[in-house]
Amino acid sequence: MLTLPVELAAEHADLIAAIDALVDAHGATRSALIPVLQGLREQRHEINDVAMQVVADRLGITPVDVQGVVTFYSFLKMEAAGKHIVHVCRTLSCEMAGMRRVAEQLQAELGVTVGGTSADNLVTLDWVNCIGMCDQPPALLIDRKALGRVTPAQVREIVAGLRAEAATT
Ligand code: FES
Repeated sequence: MLTLPVELAAEHADLIAAIDALVDAHGATRSALIPVLQGLREQRHEINDVAMQVVADRLGITPVDVQGVVTFYSFLKMEAAGKHIVHVCRTLSCEMAGMRRVAEQLQAELGVTVGGTSADNLVTLDWVNCIGMCDQPPALLIDRKALGRVTPAQVREIVAGLRAEAATT
């Protein structure tokens, strides 16, 4: 339920329509937060207070949650050297839930240290601060897709999946 005043909603109808389209594409859940924000930044080059309020409404989270993620995400504009960029959340909930083991497995599978790009240019691996998935730690961001409760065993599947996709494109 949108909590914006009616006049403000009318004034920002285009913005609201853009957000609704992104939410339709990515889902009205907390895990859609990053892709929705990334899409919004690509389309409109800024994420203002009204946008944060509308995104929060649509995803059922607080504007403070959205603002926290937006503040962290200067990396949303980052250019990756590899075809894909995998960010590993290193903030407290994920740290406590075994993020180090996930990061070690990624490094082993890809043959890189965090901050580097695999020799085949498939993946750039990097750290990130909280991506809003603290209720499902440890969390990864694979390009635009957030993934929670990641295990070291899953890492093997994730990397194999990226390699298989690259082999067919
Ligand atoms: S602490 Fe990792 S997603 Fe929030």
